[in-house]
Amino acid sequence: SGPQFPLPANEPEVHFGKGTAAAAELSQALAAREVVEIPTVIGGKRYFSNDVVEVRAPHDTQRLLARIHRPTQAQVDEAIASSKAVARDWASLTHASRATILHRAADIVGTRLRMKINAATMLGQSKTIEEAEPDSACELMDFLRFNAYNAQRVYAEQPMSVPTAVNRADWRPLEGFVYAVSPFNFTAIGTNLTTAPAIMGNTVLWKPSEKSALANYIFFEALEEAGLPPGVINFVPGEAEMTTRAVMSSRDLAGIHFTGSSAVFQSLWKEVASKVESFRTIPRLVGETGGKDFVLAHPSANASEVAIALIRGAFGYQGQKCSAASRAYIPNSLWGEVSTQLRDRLAVLKVGDVADPDTFMGAVISQASHQKLSRAIEAAKDDAGVTVISGGRTWSEPGWFVEPTVLQVSDPKHALMTEELFGPVLSVFVYDDNAWDETLTLIDATSPYALTGSIFCTDRFALHRAESVLINAAGNLYLNDKPTGAMIGQQPFGGGRASGTNDKAGSYLNLLRWASPRVVKETY
Ligand code: SER
Repeated sequence: SGPQFPLPANEPEVHFGKGTAAAAELSQALAAREVVEIPTVIGGKRYFSNDVVEVRAPHDTQRLLARIHRPTQAQVDEAIASSKAVARDWASLTHASRATILHRAADIVGTRLRMKINAATMLGQSKTIEEAEPDSACELMDFLRFNAYNAQRVYAEQPMSVPTAVNRADWRPLEGFVYAVSPFNFTAIGTNLTTAPAIMGNTVLWKPSEKSALANYIFFEALEEAGLPPGVINFVPGEAEMTTRAVMSSRDLAGIHFTGSSAVFQSLWKEVASKVESFRTIPRLVGETGGKDFVLAHPSANASEVAIALIRGAFGYQGQKCSAASRAYIPNSLWGEVSTQLRDRLAVLKVGDVADPDTFMGAVISQASHQKLSRAIEAAKDDAGVTVISGGRTWSEPGWFVEPTVLQVSDPKHALMTEELFGPVLSVFVYDDNAWDETLTLIDATSPYALTGSIFCTDRFALHRAESVLINAAGNLYLNDKPTGAMIGQQPFGGGRASGTNDKAGSYLNLLRWASPRVVKETY
């Protein structure tokens, strides 16, 4: 069955402390003033158009970083045709051949493109280096190496043969192409949404978010340099509606690999369902969407640990993670200490330019997001049932800034405790110390999403009870840790309810969705 790859190790983080060579190299990459022209790439050919979208730094909206050349509808059709032309050849390669390309791409990123991808992520997505290095460099390489490793686990899975017959599974890819739609918030997610289907022998039409297209394009070029044959993954950074329309009208659409909002994933699902007979294959729909992730503290928890987890979990990358802590349940006896620590610690955290190594939080991604968050914060200030514990300011010069904001709500069913805002706003409900069981039931009942959650508790019986009551409230549960920062290979990632199909990014479970095995029985 070919060469065996060993279990990869997670890519270690480079440290960018002041005065290090890495910090100097990074500031050089950040200072580059080149405006990148980002083409649509189909079958290896680059297309530049008149339909151009500008990419600007969210924390410095005067700074132009790139221009995206959007495709026409005819070009999206051409991308579908080009992947069809190469599909058989790609599927017929051995796993080892495909895996080699992924490993080579990881090494190219690690040895030569790390600073460039980090800088593009920092500028284009307004991320500090503390957030960018794990997401845009390490996790990206991890996805490549772990997808290559996990595919061999799938291929090794074979049915039993008997003395009169040999049975085998041919691990075919899906018949058709996979539409990969990646979000702005993690550069590495685009890597996974494309290479998970590709390692299983599928071709992919990749529509990255325009907000992350700069960093995603650098990665795409690494894949090309690593020897990915033209047409296997086409880079189509287009306008979402038009691209989706063209994709949906193809009989060859065989799957969608999506990370983004619940609303968009649901609309894709409905559209596929409404015309399911028009596709040759019933498309596989794999989506990881929103969250309203909880942090629950038990009276036995340590207040400082809870406060630090809340700050890192709720405000890392401005709270723009589907895994971000956005609602907390704190017992009365701990709230005095936790709220004081939140205020004191948040007061000294810097919000501003991500190139400044002292910055903790950059800007939110766009004007639309800034408006939505500003409105929610203003409404909270006018709401008699809400107390502003910390933050609450927003400003829009030189970019889209929102202060880390902590709101205490008196009604645990308030929209602030159930609806996703996707920004640096944490809502807190303070519960009676004796109401542990009631609080567990309440959390489960007010969880339309079920992505991540954290429980801080040193009482083993109380912890066990919480784990069982909250069995469906989170696909990734953290005990005595913040709810963000899943590591590939360590915490396969995804959740249920409105948070998606829970197909566990970064694991072989996800890869199974991109295969359609043929089972052959041969008698003798
Ligand atoms: N994997 C990320 C995290 O765990 C979210 O996509 O924070």
